[in-house]
Amino acid sequence: MSKILVTGGLGYIGSHTVVELINAGFEPVIVDDLSNSQPKILDQITKITGKRPVFHELDLSDENAVKNLATAEPDIAGVIHFAAFKAVGESVQQPLKYYRNNIYSLINLLESYYGKPINFVFSSSCTVYGQPDVLPVTEQAPIKPAQSPYGNTKQIAEEILFDTIAAGSSYKVIALRYFNPVGAHETALIGELPIGVPQNLVPFITQTAIGKREKLTVFGDDYNTKDGSCVRDYIHVVDLAKAHVAALHLMKKNEFKGYDVFNIGTGNGNTVLEIIKAFEEVTGEKLNYTIGPRRAGDVEQVWGNVSKAEEKLHWKAELGIDAMMSSAWAWEKYIAQNPVQ
Ligand code: UD1
Repeated sequence: MSKILVTGGLGYIGSHTVVELINAGFEPVIVDDLSNSQPKILDQITKITGKRPVFHELDLSDENAVKNLATAEPDIAGVIHFAAFKAVGESVQQPLKYYRNNIYSLINLLESYYGKPINFVFSSSCTVYGQPDVLPVTEQAPIKPAQSPYGNTKQIAEEILFDTIAAGSSYKVIALRYFNPVGAHETALIGELPIGVPQNLVPFITQTAIGKREKLTVFGDDYNTKDGSCVRDYIHVVDLAKAHVAALHLMKKNEFKGYDVFNIGTGNGNTVLEIIKAFEEVTGEKLNYTIGPRRAGDVEQVWGNVSKAEEKLHWKAELGIDAMMSSAWAWEKYIAQNPVQ
């Protein structure tokens, strides 16, 4: 059984990916510093899969800790590197925190396992495209100047990986550019666990519906879109998790060499107001919301061309907006009864 190191494996996307790795017959080994995740998620993964992955609690920006990890876990076939900070606004306030964590951790991992034939999946983001000139955006679209230090860490990390491969290393690398992951596992045992006030749309919706927040503010209804609110490509987190398994399968093939990058979305755009309507229809809950000003740094609209992933990864998103909303709601109700924090 191939061992796969999953950094940030107790986080939102990481935990769902650990479940899909186990379902696909891999042996995930979780690394997490618990800075934005809860140890109880390991129990939840065990409940879903019947298997309890090995867990190392450590900070990947600590060079010695990562060297020790490589000694403790020498025989890994792959790395899926999720561990990173991701709050756009916070990254503007505290850029060094973001550069230190997101960049050092990547370099430490690459250096500690250098020379080994490891298949490496990197969590990138559609944020690298900024506001694309052409929609849906393809992987060939020009990379725009980053709008935030967070976005810049994704661009720099892609360059570090590209240059490492170009220098002829023994790694193979796939960077997955995620669009907007939402929803939760169908068992409602794992899902997104924002610390404090959620910055992202769907956790804010579910927390408002359950009464933790008074009301949702829609950030702007004067954009040049069909109803004036911003457009994003929302993708179910379980579909996204499966894309990582597909990336590992592709890199196992001899004909895959070097470095490649894939958009991971559904290929469809939805407005904020459409998401609210879908949530209300699917759950029967009336959402208290108001229209507010635009949020600084938001792009007007972005959705992905995902045909490259369909052709080469043999992966396609299967779950629609209704499943995204109903699973996010089931998870919010679950944690109201069974706090995991
Ligand atoms: C952003 C980043 C993305 C990153 C993600 C993780 C950009 C362009 N995108 O996604 O790379 O991976 O955060 O945190 O930097 N909205 C509201 N009210 C709210 C919250 C959100 O109207 O209370 C709207 C936003 O204006 C946006 C949409 O909902 O149009 C989605 O916002 P959000 O969930 O924060 O994700 P992004 O900003 O798209």
